Amino acid sequence: MSGGETTIDTTKASVARVYDALLGGKDNYEVDRVVYRSVLESDPQAPATAVAIREWLVRVVRWLAGPAGMDQFLDCGSGLPTQENTHEAAQRLNPEARVVYVDNDPVVGAHGRALLEENPFTHFVEADLADPDALLGHPDVTRNLDLDRPYVLMQCNTLHHLMDDEDPHGIMRRYIDALPSGSYVALCHFWDPQDEDPESSTFAKDMEQRLTGSSMGSGRFRTRDEIAAYLEGLEPVEPGLVRLHEWWPDGPRLTPLTSMDRVLLSGVARKP
Ligand SMILES: C[S@@+](CC[C@H](N)C(=O)[O-])C[C@H]1O[C@@H](n2cnc3c(N)ncnc32)[C@H](O)[C@@H]1O
Repeated sequence: MSGGETTIDTTKASVARVYDALLGGKDNYEVDRVVYRSVLESDPQAPATAVAIREWLVRVVRWLAGPAGMDQFLDCGSGLPTQENTHEAAQRLNPEARVVYVDNDPVVGAHGRALLEENPFTHFVEADLADPDALLGHPDVTRNLDLDRPYVLMQCNTLHHLMDDEDPHGIMRRYIDALPSGSYVALCHFWDPQDEDPESSTFAKDMEQRLTGSSMGSGRFRTRDEIAAYLEGLEPVEPGLVRLHEWWPDGPRLTPLTSMDRVLLSGVARKP
């Protein structure tokens, strides 16, 4: 699928629109705000975590486009354009860094195309990230990225929206097998910290029920081992899989962590 008719389903919450609500955006409907309010019921500070995710993403992209010298980004499940997006962070360091955004939400598609039309190095592709072969063979992807050269595969808050029967690990294996040597993966994922932090584990289990039981229908909190398994065969970049604020923060932390902050695991890894 590459664009075409835009059909917006307002009978069910969409991940992109609930996330938009958490980030203070206006591209959401009442059906999305039902899920948003349920999230707030469990953690009233959850919007601060959505902001922390975006700050993490900018730090990661900045490092990849700068010191790591990466000039191609495949941002899977990019979400609605927000304050600072991957292409803005990357192109500040390298104006010719190429970014292809992928999302299957028609609202994201409409906004993505509108926002990015004028920049020749940035493109949006409406496709399903759960089908890596189709995505990596999509003409709008292969026209704009040279997939034989190292690139950054971004899976930021996407894989937890694939339920276990969709085989997220098998999907990720296909992506990683296809990466040329010297490529990077950036990952952020809902985490059930189990033995490491039992209180947060209880929170994660409650949040998982709220999300999977909602009309949105997804949001799996996986264990550290399950999240690490996505990156099997890759070299972890320091400091490995950590909470968002532990990934090369900009400075000392001035506010307490939210409950949601404690149940996200993030990291970057390189294909040898
Ligand atoms: C929580 S948002 C994350 C946005 C951004 N990556 C971030 O971390 O800030 C997840 C995005 O993934 C998209 N998404 C979920 N499942 C997808 C699929 N199977 N194919 C393409 N996009 C998908 C949603 O539409 C949504 O925009």
